Amino acid sequence: MYNEKVMEAFKNPQNVGEVENYDGLGKVGNAACGDIMQITIKVENDVITDAKFKTFGCAAAIATSSTATQMVIGMTLDEALKLTNKQVVEYLEGLPPQKLHCSVLAEEAIKAAIEDYRNKKAGIHAKDKEPEYV
Ligand code: FES
Repeated sequence: MYNEKVMEAFKNPQNVGEVENYDGLGKVGNAACGDIMQITIKVENDVITDAKFKTFGCAAAIATSSTATQMVIGMTLDEALKLTNKQVVEYLEGLPPQKLHCSVLAEEAIKAAIEDYRNKKAGIHAKDKEPEYV
């Protein structure tokens, strides 16, 4: 059901865990399946220098999050905000259609982590870290 590239990313996921002393945290849930994704980022001079994920999601969620975190490390925040799940899926050479919704988690969690970072910088602290459902 999954291609080799997806299986490789699933079996050897990169950037699993939580960035130490992270600058931004994004937690989102998938309305389609109820799974949850958390991404933490480290930011220096508006560039993402580290990103890690934790998920209760499936193989597709793990493979796309591993890939998405690899892709955003080294990007500016504005570049990372433009990363779409479609680009991640293209990089992985496709997902079964019924698993496409899983790839949205990483995109949304990265966006939420960047928003969290920018809010903290602006002095706005999230009162509630419950996941948003996408
Ligand atoms: Fe929930 Fe894939 S089935 S993230």
